Amino acid sequence: MRYLTFALTKGRLASKTLDMLEKLGITCEEMKDKASRKLIFVNEDLKLKFFLAKGPDVPTYVEYGAADIGVVGRDTIVEEGRKVHEVLDLGFGGCRMCVCGHEEAKELLKHHELIRVATKYPNIAKDYFYNKKHQTVEIIKMHGSIELAPIVGLSEVIVDIVETGSTLKENGLVVLEDVCSLSARMIVNPVSMRMENERIKELIVNLRRLLQEGEKKDAH
Ligand code: PRP
Repeated sequence: MRYLTFALTKGRLASKTLDMLEKLGITCEEMKDKASRKLIFVNEDLKLKFFLAKGPDVPTYVEYGAADIGVVGRDTIVEEGRKVHEVLDLGFGGCRMCVCGHEEAKELLKHHELIRVATKYPNIAKDYFYNKKHQTVEIIKMHGSIELAPIVGLSEVIVDIVETGSTLKENGLVVLEDVCSLSARMIVNPVSMRMENERIKELIVNLRRLLQEGEKKDAH
């Protein structure tokens, strides 16, 4: 049997994924050793391999088949636009992609003014403003702490992730428009999906069952 390789997004998404897999009896003891400098972890019994990567690199590994399966935020999947199959909403990592700024920027948006938009997600921002809103804007690609942009006057608004809303609140900013909702997704390489259909399908079915059981528990 060949190895099935997983690329997981470093951090919270990876630990939540490993928790879920553990409930299905899929464990990777090697990965729990925090002191280890190893980059790839193997479960010999189940013929599985796992590695951790930065979010935007996960769809790349999956598109090229260096990983069969990936777990990554929907924001990254949409932004990167790689040829991968999105097969499952894992239900965690829920948040929203929003246009945010000072309250006063609402008027600028309403009147379709030529404004500047700072974002880590230029493709998502372009699609939203150009294709959905038919509004011409100037998009400025940034790499983090996006909320700074309207505060220091780099841009009128930002397109960014809002989870609890506390970053906005603490900086006197508000949500102006909703772009889309996000959560962690499982993606699969299209060739792997065909070649390893049974193993991957079984995994998807089991994860889906686990998610439904969780939903039932929440309802009680
Ligand atoms: C994300 C996002 C917001 C913040 C939203 O940033 O870009 O800044 O979290 O969360 P909240 O609504 O719960 O406050 P992240 O911490 O990932 O770092 P970054 O600023 O480097 O993008």
